[in-house]
Amino acid sequence: YEGAEHYVPEGRGLAELREAAERCRGCDLYADATQTVFGAGPQDARVVMVGEVPGDREDATGKPFVGPAGGLLDKAMKEAGIDRDGVYVTNAVKHFRFTPAERGKRRIHKKPSRGQIVACRPWLVAELEAVTPGVVVCLGATAAQSLLGTDFRVSKQRGELLDLPGGEARVLATAHPSAILRAPADDREQAYQDLVKDLRIVAKAT
Ligand code: URA
Ligand code: SF4
Repeated sequence: YEGAEHYVPEGRGLAELREAAERCRGCDLYADATQTVFGAGPQDARVVMVGEVPGDREDATGKPFVGPAGGLLDKAMKEAGIDRDGVYVTNAVKHFRFTPAERGKRRIHKKPSRGQIVACRPWLVAELEAVTPGVVVCLGATAAQSLLGTDFRVSKQRGELLDLPGGEARVLATAHPSAILRAPADDREQAYQDLVKDLRIVAKAT
């Protein structure tokens, strides 16, 4: 892929970045998605949450984390004492990736490829430069790989406050809310409590 680099305006605020991202063709995902789902939240946010890729609801509305995963994230943030209004929420990849269901019109979320994650990274880097948060939260392996490299293992280092490579911010990786929703019923409450526990560390660090 050519990557997003060439579409990202230099030294601009979030509004200019968001507008420019509507026209990005840095990888193949723009072709089948409805629209670019850029990050949302205040430019002076102290916390940035980074998910994986927009889902079906996000693709339809143009806003990140408005579907079931977003509902769970909102609940966990509230419980951890993080004010959602002071958080900038975004994704490692800005266009929905899906496969059509074998029957019907449902679109099934698909993980972005390594190439797509790398292609879209310039947008995430630009968002972090515009917002300059104190803490960046990687929700799941895709966000962690984008910002912390492919050797990073969420299973080994989740909940640790680390230095963000090449930045001033701290970074913490935790589970993705969708993984909690997909967990077997018996494990779900524990997985949710583990997320809240990690987010409490974020609340304390800001
Ligand atoms: N999952 C994500 O990673 N991001 C969203 O915006 C929604 C679901
Ligand atoms: Fe550009 Fe990212 Fe969309 Fe690919 S996914 S077209 S790099 S905004």
